[in-house]
Amino acid sequence: MDSIIKSIVITGASSGIGLSTCELFLQHGYLVFGSVRKNSDASKLKKMFGENFVPLIFDVKDRKNINDSVQIVKDHIGANNLTALINNAGTAILGPLEFLEPIEFHKQLETNLIGVFNCVQAFLPLLGSTSTKQTLKKGRIINISSALGGKIGYPFYGAYCSSKHALEGFSEALRRELTGHKIAVSIIAPGAIQTPIWDKAETSSLKNKYLGTIYQSAYEKMIVDMKKLGVNGLKPEIVSAKIFRAVEAKNPKIRYTFISEFTLNLLYFAPRRLIDKLVMRYLGLT
Ligand SMILES: NC(=O)c1ccc[n+]([C@@H]2O[C@H](COP(=O)([O-])OP(=O)(O)OC[C@H]3O[C@@H](n4cnc5c(N)ncnc54)[C@H](OP(=O)(O)O)[C@@H]3O)[C@@H](O)[C@H]2O)c1
Repeated sequence: MDSIIKSIVITGASSGIGLSTCELFLQHGYLVFGSVRKNSDASKLKKMFGENFVPLIFDVKDRKNINDSVQIVKDHIGANNLTALINNAGTAILGPLEFLEPIEFHKQLETNLIGVFNCVQAFLPLLGSTSTKQTLKKGRIINISSALGGKIGYPFYGAYCSSKHALEGFSEALRRELTGHKIAVSIIAPGAIQTPIWDKAETSSLKNKYLGTIYQSAYEKMIVDMKKLGVNGLKPEIVSAKIFRAVEAKNPKIRYTFISEFTLNLLYFAPRRLIDKLVMRYLGLT
């Protein structure tokens, strides 16, 4: 009988939540396939994590490279199913929707949404969608959304929120479709986490473009707040621990989040016009 290998593929392993998730699963004896975009990150992580870590090199926008990586994973896990695919890679591109370049908006959706679609299609057979072996446990899919970005639209996060709202709809449809294959789909929806994503967002967003527009001062206020997210947020290890729970739980939850249910319900279900007023007053958007 083949020995059972527990294994995950996690996208966006170079930093933040991805990096800390690799570490946690390795500690628990998993074979971890972490995707990075740069060869230098692949070598760095391999050196850091050792033999149970296998770097995969792809951009989630590139289906050809993703498919090459599927073959690498297949060669390692043999007849086993992949235990989980964790779609974590993501970016934040910020700016008023009125002025955001079409290319920026597309890039946001291509990374945070279509990238997930690409990986799901590519790795589904390894999760057991085509397996005829009844004895093999099916794999799981975990999609990293955002507690607020996935449910609430916030000024200047329009592209990011569009991608995460869409990811929530995608995940719900996928979860229902894949029940036939017994492949569970969960969403992990973090609040603010201490990772480099917010610093990267500031540099990749063309903030000078908004100078002199009606958005300038509100945009600047949002940037100040955003920088605090990376400093005051929760540690990425807290997210990794939830991801681990979602992979190991007998009956994984549909959506894991980190903000109290009460606060979330208040935000999700409060009258939209009231939230509009509060947000506009807070940002000085009149
Ligand atoms: N941090 C938060 O407060 C927060 C809150 C809610 C949700 N999230 C979500 O958590 C996930 C992880 O983000 P993080 O906070 O850990 O940020 P991070 O440290 O910046 O990590 C993002 C990872 O995604 C990779 N990546 C970006 N674009 C990619 C692409 N096109 N193809 C492949 N990989 C790509 C990055 O690789 P490179 O190093 O090559 O750029 C990096 O490894 C994201 O989906 C994010 O939206 C974060």
